[in-house]
Amino acid sequence: MSLVNNDANHSPIASVYNLIPFYTEELVMPVLEQLMLKHLPKGAHILDIGCSNGQVLQQLQIRGYQTTGLDVCEELLRFARINSPESKFILSDIRKFQSPPIYDAVYSKNVFSFFLNLEELTTVFQNVMGAMRDNALFETFAYSSNECT
Ligand SMILES: C[S@@+](CC[C@H](N)C(=O)[O-])C[C@H]1O[C@@H](n2cnc3c(N)ncnc32)[C@H](O)[C@@H]1O
Repeated sequence: MSLVNNDANHSPIASVYNLIPFYTEELVMPVLEQLMLKHLPKGAHILDIGCSNGQVLQQLQIRGYQTTGLDVCEELLRFARINSPESKFILSDIRKFQSPPIYDAVYSKNVFSFFLNLEELTTVFQNVMGAMRDNALFETFAYSSNECT
């Protein structure tokens, strides 16, 4: 028996997910500030992989960045468009995502645990690399209320 649920289909819980206070401003943004934002000029273009309902995108917009959110779940993107109306959005599976190198930074939180083998991870990193400008930044981390890795 596995205790790990790696089901990436968030559609059934999208509306509930949108009601949960994730304390993005208080808990996530200070981490992002230290890891990434302090190295980026305002106006830099940031891609959020697995942006969900757009809570981080909303905060990045407030701070003056250009933002694009990518998610495989259409229902979550529906909420993201409401929560961060100035952002661009891409409905795509990151494992199939192809982009020219247009992003100054790529960020992803609590998503990479869905990629369960080396082949998938390699593909994802190749796709991310393909989307990044020269010298662009990449940050991925897993976060829960009492743990950040
Ligand atoms: C646990 S949630 C994390 C959401 C958000 N990043 C956060 O930290 O609150 C995982 C998100 O990744 C998305 N996701 C999972 N697998 C994906 C894939 N292969 N391509 C794009 N998005 C994916 C899900 O739809 C969901 O929005």
